[in-house]
Amino acid sequence: MPRSLEIERLYVAYGNACVLSDVNMEISLDRITCLLGANGAGKSTLIRALLGLTAPRQGNIYFNGMEITGLATHQVVAMGISCIPEGRRVFPKMSVQENLLMGAYQEKSKVKIRARLQKVCEIFPRLAERKEQLAGTMSGGEQAMLSIGRGLMSEPRLIIIDEPSLGLSPALVKENFRIIRSICESGTAVFLVEQNVRQTLAIASYGYVLSQGRVAAHGTADALKNDVQVQKAYFG
Ligand SMILES: Nc1ncnc2c1ncn2[C@@H]1O[C@H](COP(=O)(O)OP(=O)(O)OP(=O)(O)O)[C@@H](O)[C@H]1O
Ligand SMILES: [Mg+2]
Repeated sequence: MPRSLEIERLYVAYGNACVLSDVNMEISLDRITCLLGANGAGKSTLIRALLGLTAPRQGNIYFNGMEITGLATHQVVAMGISCIPEGRRVFPKMSVQENLLMGAYQEKSKVKIRARLQKVCEIFPRLAERKEQLAGTMSGGEQAMLSIGRGLMSEPRLIIIDEPSLGLSPALVKENFRIIRSICESGTAVFLVEQNVRQTLAIASYGYVLSQGRVAAHGTADALKNDVQVQKAYFG
């Protein structure tokens, strides 16, 4: 059975506006795959379609060979896919720990939940130090860590992260990339949506470039570094 998330001939439209056309991808569950593309290329729309938040007009999505097209979001999450949405919404009036626990809402075993909490706290010592702090009072960078930590609490096989560097200082961006790499090394595949091309291609193994809703290029990260489509997608 293929260990991957497969997207076949996917079309998504908002009203009459076609946003994704004939998108085909294979996201292998043993590495970091990145999704690059300019503002408005359709990256977040693709993620919404994967998560059952936007119904595709046409096409199929498979996770480990099982069709997930049209499933509700909670069903997709239950299959082992977790998502950190754009803008990393945390629950501001809840504590850091409560936010993390929300990520494990589908797990009944308290023992497992405690073990996951421990693991996330090891990845993000900053969160461990501030378990009781209200999430809304955390800094932007800390909230970014919290949202990734919450996404890991469901112990996903694949975590999708939509633009984690947005609005972060260079030092925090670097820290975030280091953490994303360590998440992959600990056995969770990552589908990373980013505009930070150089740093993204430095940690990803494979990548896709979306341009106006179509896959303009795909290949190994090394090949994409030298691809003219990558330059075009970012610099017009
Ligand atoms: N709910 C919606 N209704 C109508 N059009 C939408 C809707 N959501 C997104 N769009 C349009 O679809 C296109 C793709 O948007 P999307 O958010 O997927 O882009 P993106 O690649 O994630 O961009 P960014 O890098 O700015 O986040 C844009 O032109 C956007 O205006
Ligand atoms: Mg987006």
